[in-house]
Amino acid sequence: MKVLEIKKVRRYFGGIKAVENFSLDVEEGAIVGLIGPNGAGKSTLFNCVAGVFPPTAGEIVFLGERTAGLKPWDLCRRGLARTFQIVKPFASRSVLYNVMVGAFAGTARRSEAERRALEVLERLRMVKIKDARAGNLTIADRKRLEIARALATRPRLLLLDEVMAGLRPTEVDEMVAIIKGLRDSGMTIFVIEHIMRAIMALSDRIAVLHFGSKIAEGTPQEIARDERVIKAYLGEDYGAA
Ligand SMILES: Nc1ncnc2c1ncn2[C@@H]1O[C@H](COP(=O)(O)OP(=O)(O)OP(=O)(O)O)[C@@H](O)[C@H]1O
Ligand SMILES: [Mg+2]
Repeated sequence: MKVLEIKKVRRYFGGIKAVENFSLDVEEGAIVGLIGPNGAGKSTLFNCVAGVFPPTAGEIVFLGERTAGLKPWDLCRRGLARTFQIVKPFASRSVLYNVMVGAFAGTARRSEAERRALEVLERLRMVKIKDARAGNLTIADRKRLEIARALATRPRLLLLDEVMAGLRPTEVDEMVAIIKGLRDSGMTIFVIEHIMRAIMALSDRIAVLHFGSKIAEGTPQEIARDERVIKAYLGEDYGAA
């Protein structure tokens, strides 16, 4: 089953063609990667999918239903959650509080929200820092908190926007393991990432954006040896490395 269908989506900002005629299907249980140079339109595409702003043209279908007119909170209630490239937790509040904010998307009961939040923190191995102030966390833990907040909404589809940027190599490996674990528990994941080692290890399929257009789509192996991708993004050294 297709969890997400992106059909000929365009998004313009004035004269800037941020996304141009982009189509992609995301199958249930898949991890699909989205890569491309800075400014290629990756986050813009996520924003269109998540209902932050509507596409200029084209159609997005989530779990069989067109999303036109739906706002982020509508989509969240239907099972779509996303992280933000720029993380912005409630800095003065605790980790647990921040994750409960996500959980309240699915329940109005405080005790239930707390239970769900703790469950997620357990899964991400964050229980020991549940009482820490979010503003005091390391980058790695702030990224993890961002995922936790999204997971607490209990999504079917999770959009991850550069959750590994700024992490050390061992932290990247940990994040890869966490994301694979989420998929193994039945979630579908659409992920933007610049760290090639991570995106190659994670993805079943990868789409490549360049100046708003999809220039390639395929398995990690296919993408790694695609001439256009090497030219536009990976660089000549990548294949040799
Ligand atoms: N809200 C906005 N208003 C105007 N222009 C925007 C807006 N959001 C994005 N853009 C422009 O759209 C283009 C694509 O930006 P986007 O943030 O989607 O790229 P990206 O692929 O996520 O890049 P990065 O890898 O640096 O995060 C850029 O030219 C950007 O300046
Ligand atoms: Mg971006």
